[in-house]
Amino acid sequence: MVADFASLRTQFPGRSRSTYMNVAARGLMTTGSRAAIDRMLDARLYGEADKAAMFDIIESSRRRYAALINADPDEIAITKNVSEGLNAIIASYDWQRGDNAVICPDLEHPNNVFPWRNLAKRTGMDVKTVAPHDGQISVEAIAEAIDGNTRMVTASSVTFAPGFRTDIAAIARLCRERDILFLVDGVQSVGILHTDVNELGIDAMAVSTQKGLLGLYGMGFLYCRREWAERLTPVYLARFGVDMGDAHEAALGDGDDRLAPGARRFDLGNYNFVAAAAVDDSIGMMLDTGTREIEEYVTGLTRDLATGLLDVGLPVVGGEPGPATGSIVSVGSIGEGQHDTVDDPAMAGLHDYLSANGVNLSIRRGILRFSLHLYNDASDVARVIELARGHNA
Ligand SMILES: Cc1ncc(COP(=O)(O)O)c(C=O)c1O
Repeated sequence: MVADFASLRTQFPGRSRSTYMNVAARGLMTTGSRAAIDRMLDARLYGEADKAAMFDIIESSRRRYAALINADPDEIAITKNVSEGLNAIIASYDWQRGDNAVICPDLEHPNNVFPWRNLAKRTGMDVKTVAPHDGQISVEAIAEAIDGNTRMVTASSVTFAPGFRTDIAAIARLCRERDILFLVDGVQSVGILHTDVNELGIDAMAVSTQKGLLGLYGMGFLYCRREWAERLTPVYLARFGVDMGDAHEAALGDGDDRLAPGARRFDLGNYNFVAAAAVDDSIGMMLDTGTREIEEYVTGLTRDLATGLLDVGLPVVGGEPGPATGSIVSVGSIGEGQHDTVDDPAMAGLHDYLSANGVNLSIRRGILRFSLHLYNDASDVARVIELARGHNA
């Protein structure tokens, strides 16, 4: 089946309000997700909520997400966001003084930095930091930092700024050979870039649903390879993390408290059913479309955007698009500004001009960040390039 991106676009009314290039903050929602949310809310509004049907939606979203990343449903836990997923893995390992983990903090979102600092304080483990190389997480630097005491390595699959792809498969190989858990923050790539956790060799991966998965805030998925999940002991435990077969959710069991299989042990209590309804629908659309097709389509647009902005004379981070180009194009000089401001007056002017002309983008770490998904098309790319050309003239 050839994916029909033009007809998919019609499911995103948000396109009529702006040239939307901000999935790295949050994606546009589909009319299908909105309808699924409405059905869920109507059931509550009229006092007709059906718990069994609500659980069916949780399990459907788990199954669909598992299919999206080529995992088993038992390898997926339902979480609240990225940080909860990362913390669940980090905290459930039995750290000993002298153990270490390797991270490139300059390129990680703060929510993948604070948990490690906290862990070091609490357990006496070491956080070994590596420097970025050309704005990217360097496989060589990670290889050099790994030693006999390394227990985990963490990296974003795509960094939130400047937005390059990380060579996840290469880092995974380093880890697998040494029985090191490789923990990935996948939120900037999953749903947009084809992600096969088995092919890539990822051990655990946390995402939230409001970005590439086109869902709501307040829900995430945590993938954990079964073999690793069953070596971990969750710090938080609640009913759905305990294996009690078909027993009612209010059952107390016999005190045995056998942990649920695989990553299900990280599920806690009741879920964000509304967010699950939304993402169940949007992931269904992605599965129908095909993740390889989505990646090819979106990265084609991103490359055209990067090339066009370079032609206009703008400082695209990394220059000509290459293998590390994914769904994000950044413009400016990294570090010239704060998290969401830009010091360079030329870049600040461009940002304001684009925003005033209905382009929805963001600033991170002092650079302008354009991020694309399957609802974008060549006309969006051409429009942004023409606006930039006009402003630069
Ligand atoms: C790479 C990355 N990690 C984590 C987060 C946020 O973490 P959380 O879902 O815990 O709020 C973001 C952005 O919101 C991000 O871009």
